Amino acid sequence: MSLQITPSMLASDFANLAGEAARIPGADWLHMDVMDNHFVPNLTLGLPVIEALAKVARQPIDAHLMIQDPDRWAPAYVEAGAGSVTFHVEAAAAPIRLAREIRAKGARASMALKPATPIEPYEDMLTELDMVLIMTVEPGFGGQKFLDLCLPKIARARTLIDKHGGDIWLQVDGGVSLETIERCAEAGADVFVAGSAVFNADDPDAMVAELRAHAGHHIH
Ligand code: DX5
Ligand code: ZN
Repeated sequence: MSLQITPSMLASDFANLAGEAARIPGADWLHMDVMDNHFVPNLTLGLPVIEALAKVARQPIDAHLMIQDPDRWAPAYVEAGAGSVTFHVEAAAAPIRLAREIRAKGARASMALKPATPIEPYEDMLTELDMVLIMTVEPGFGGQKFLDLCLPKIARARTLIDKHGGDIWLQVDGGVSLETIERCAEAGADVFVAGSAVFNADDPDAMVAELRAHAGHHIH
């Protein structure tokens, strides 16, 4: 398993994304939350902003698309420079075709599940994916409280991933902090999004290192 910390830029200063990325050199990826005010009740950023940041940031971009019609839009995020593109399965019309298209364009293909969406129906398509994202809050906003009820699903997802072999990452997103990251790691997550925990810290890069250390105790 590969322990990775992917800070969410949603909690950073949008007027200075390049500067904010430079404050977290220890981050493995920059998690970019794309919201369209339809799939979720919030509006953030899209292709032009990802393209601009991908050109200047040292870390690769992990694009989390909380949008309707990802079948139409997700491949363009690979062209914009994202190294990993996550679509929500609740919004995808043809998730297998979409995952294949993202991979064919050269990025890692990832599928996200909202807290009430079960993992079991997607067992047979895990081989089409490079990462599964289990949301631990309802998507739409940063700074929400971690939902403990998602922990059993993380554990079930880990079991299914191990059963099917392959090197599929298991990411958690929402309310991840020094207080909750160990529970996620223990349940089987290995990639951790953290927005407010990182950017509300006095030293965001030190927080990335601390989160990594906390999770590391539980990852083998
Ligand atoms: C929520 C986003 C998250 C968010 C996490 O819909 O997908 O990535 O930025 O923020 P925190 O870590 O503050 O919960
Ligand atoms: Zn996210």
